[in-house]
Amino acid sequence: MSKKIKIGTVGIGLMGSSIATCLLASGHFVTALTNNIREKEGAIKRIDEFLQQLKAEELIDEEPAEVLKKLHITDQYSALKDHAVVIESVVENITEKRKVFAQLETVLTPDTLIGSNTSAIPVTLLQAEMQNPQRLFGIHWAEPAHLTRFMEIICGDQSDIQLAEKFSRLAESWGKEPSLIRKDIRGFIANRVMYAMLREAFYLVENGYATIEDVDRSLRNDLGYWITFAGPFRFMDLTGIPAYLAVMNDLFPDLCNDTKVPATIERLVKEGGKGVRNQQGFYTYSEDTARHWEKLFMEFSFEIRKLAGKYPQDAGEHI
Ligand SMILES: NC(=O)c1ccc[n+]([C@@H]2O[C@H](COP(=O)([O-])OP(=O)(O)OC[C@H]3O[C@@H](n4cnc5c(N)ncnc54)[C@H](O)[C@@H]3O)[C@@H](O)[C@H]2O)c1
Repeated sequence: MSKKIKIGTVGIGLMGSSIATCLLASGHFVTALTNNIREKEGAIKRIDEFLQQLKAEELIDEEPAEVLKKLHITDQYSALKDHAVVIESVVENITEKRKVFAQLETVLTPDTLIGSNTSAIPVTLLQAEMQNPQRLFGIHWAEPAHLTRFMEIICGDQSDIQLAEKFSRLAESWGKEPSLIRKDIRGFIANRVMYAMLREAFYLVENGYATIEDVDRSLRNDLGYWITFAGPFRFMDLTGIPAYLAVMNDLFPDLCNDTKVPATIERLVKEGGKGVRNQQGFYTYSEDTARHWEKLFMEFSFEIRKLAGKYPQDAGEHI
């Protein structure tokens, strides 16, 4: 597929804006559909800011104002009719998403690929009422979507794996390193592994083995040191496999396997804790330190993207 194909997006909220930015920065013409045209000005402002950041970090050559000319925001489904790919990013609600797919299918040709940026709704359920369910995939982005290399492409029971591979190749041209999930599973890859880690982290804290600060410090300096370079399987290859088997034998029976959510997070959320957003999290913040953490995280995102770009997944194959 050519870089200049027109791509549609549906939903222009937080993720819809960063997804549109990613596509615009990759050279596509983007038609963004919203059911609330009053969101248009806010979305343009957000996308402009993202593009300014990309320009400042030399990740795009064109001026943001020029790139923005390739964006068209509309509330008319008919504006998407000749698009080869459409990415939905509306609220996380199965009825709402299904309604969007039904309306899309009235204007799109049967071969238009549709991606759904769902966090957790099984793709099989999303495609159940579609006329052409084989072209629907879950497309799991990580924020900020215009910077991260992460993408999971998820097949539902009726998805066509060859179309998923086509989607994957297209996503590579957006600077992504996509992973394909061949069978629908709740949480996909990264979230399943991350939530297993979160469960264990809460277990250690709630049972007095370590403080929140100590858990964070250990993980930043161990996992955080190597995980952008190598996934867990490459890492076992690099560091010697037999030791892992020995540790698995001893450790697996000892790991937390609770199915109940940790009391600490339940209490925090009940008390209104949202994290840096309202300065109420696992750590304490003032308004200034909260903003500073957000700013540093954005700076770090640019740095790690550059580093990851130097070491792609197949880096060791190129001698
Ligand atoms: N992958 C991730 O890391 C990640 C992170 C956050 C959210 N998400 C998922 O992305 C999706 C969007 O999340 P968000 O945080 O951007 O939400 P949001 O509330 O910021 O934006 C939702 C947008 O959808 C629009 N919308 C709602 N119904 C619509 C319809 N019928 N037609 C057109 N537009 C409609 C709203 O007007 C709004 O612009 C959700 O499914 C969410 O679970 C994924």
